Amino acid sequence: MNKKIVSFEGFEYSGKSTQIKLLKNYLNKNKIKSTFTREPGGHKQLEKIRKIILNSNYDNLTLILFFFASRFALLSKLKLNNLIVFDRYFDSTYAYQKYTLKDKKLILSLINQIDKKFIPKITFYFKINKKTLVQRKKIVGERNNFDKKYYSQFSRIQKNYEDIGKINFDNRKFITIDANRDKELIHNEILLNLKKWKLIK
Ligand code: TYD
Repeated sequence: MNKKIVSFEGFEYSGKSTQIKLLKNYLNKNKIKSTFTREPGGHKQLEKIRKIILNSNYDNLTLILFFFASRFALLSKLKLNNLIVFDRYFDSTYAYQKYTLKDKKLILSLINQIDKKFIPKITFYFKINKKTLVQRKKIVGERNNFDKKYYSQFSRIQKNYEDIGKINFDNRKFITIDANRDKELIHNEILLNLKKWKLIK
């Protein structure tokens, strides 16, 4: 089966959302059918849960379970014929909510519950350095409770992303993007990879 699923991951201010927008424009212009979704939320009903989660102050275990409940609900609504683009997916839960070995085991066992047909073929991980992060935060500011809470945990989260990138999930390709560069360069790198791995022509 030629799975056409790609996910975008990275810390706040990594330029992930900008790249998702550029990709969306490209696909529309080239009449390539696609479905864009984001987590948490990503569906009309589930956007309510997004608001609840992102404005919450829940403990970590509650967050893990909320994120996965919202995720499985989203998957149950997805149709697989288009190219599907995830703005955050299971790597985010590992990156942000994994502190202890116990968290790690729980999160990996929940990821294991995801049907293989929903495992991305490619995950683009946007890696920024601290200097770029500080510069961009000055310009953009903080957007929600989560931005505030996790900002000081940049190194832990970055390290978790790198660790999950080494774990094999149905042979998905975990591609690290140097997100400190110019947005057009990054956009082209993404298109090249989508073509190379036959997600688009
Ligand atoms: P969002 O506004 O979508 O941030 P961004 O534009 O950077 O993607 O907020 C999503 C927040 O939720 C972000 O801080 C990361 C966090 N998050 C988790 O902590 N765990 C998860 O599993 C997911 C999906 C998101």
